[in-house]
Amino acid sequence: MARRSESARGYESPLFPRGVPDATLPGMTTDPAALIQARYGEQPFAPPAELAPGLAAILDRRVTRRYRPEPVPEPLLQTLLAAAQSAPSKSDLQQYSIILLQDPARIAAIADWIGTMPWIKDAPIFLLFCGDIRRGRRLCELQGREYANDSVDTFINATADAALAMAHLILAADAAGLGTCPISYVRNHVEKVGPLCGLPKGVFPVAGLTLGWPVARNAPSPRLPQSVVVHRERYDDSGLEAALPAYDALRPPAKPRYPEILGRKPEGCGWSENSARQLSVPERFGLRTWLRLRGIALD
Ligand SMILES: Cc1cc2nc3c(=O)[nH]c(=O)nc-3n(C[C@H](O)[C@H](O)[C@H](O)COP(=O)(O)O)c2cc1C
Repeated sequence: MARRSESARGYESPLFPRGVPDATLPGMTTDPAALIQARYGEQPFAPPAELAPGLAAILDRRVTRRYRPEPVPEPLLQTLLAAAQSAPSKSDLQQYSIILLQDPARIAAIADWIGTMPWIKDAPIFLLFCGDIRRGRRLCELQGREYANDSVDTFINATADAALAMAHLILAADAAGLGTCPISYVRNHVEKVGPLCGLPKGVFPVAGLTLGWPVARNAPSPRLPQSVVVHRERYDDSGLEAALPAYDALRPPAKPRYPEILGRKPEGCGWSENSARQLSVPERFGLRTWLRLRGIALD
């Protein structure tokens, strides 16, 4: 089983075996069993003997937090943006916008506000994926109709549209040998990120995304077993508790989250413990107020 690491040299990836030079990072594997093993730490099912290359790239996806300085050629960037726009969208309303940042100083400003992720500055591109409720309002105005969908349902639709567009860009980038990492921390600084990106009322950040050529990708991050996440016909989480020890054992101990609030633990934390630590501390509780002030209804 691959160990988690920030270094391409520190783990065995089915796509990028130890010792492969950086120039060959965007390789592909045709070994479905290795990809499933990396994702679940075992072979819970037998995948098809051969996978379409696009499917292999999806199974092997992982975030990139180290980037080379080379720019992404404009035709490739525009093609990735077209992939983002190829995502499904609720009622074809396309209620999202993407702010494309390529000015290193502006990307650095976001990284500095976040403070704990300096590697964001190394990415030549930072994309801010936003839900966009403004465009629909404008369409109504232009068509002489009264806008009547100020609701939490619209908020969910716009958020889903933005998230799906981001997911499509992530997968397209991986297929092209690029790397990405979503950045939820832009929401910790909405009051500064909003003006930096000129977000008008009705447009709200869902997540940022770094994009660039990887120096190294993370090791594949194992996922919960399908028996926990996939509920056949009816929701049933009765197997959760029993499944957690094996899942925790798959992952090396991680840095304890919120040590300043919950205390330090030199030996690190398993996934269950760290998730509970994180979820026990309220995050971004000012966001609702900011959304309301920016004309996003949550009722
Ligand atoms: C909506 C969203 C927000 C995220 N925000 C951050 C972030 O702010 N910083 C970061 O380093 N990773 C962020 N991530 C990346 C996750 O930490 C990463 O996806 C997770 O650890 C699993 O690793 P993998 O994507 O390599 O499988 C985010 C992922 C998502 C989907």
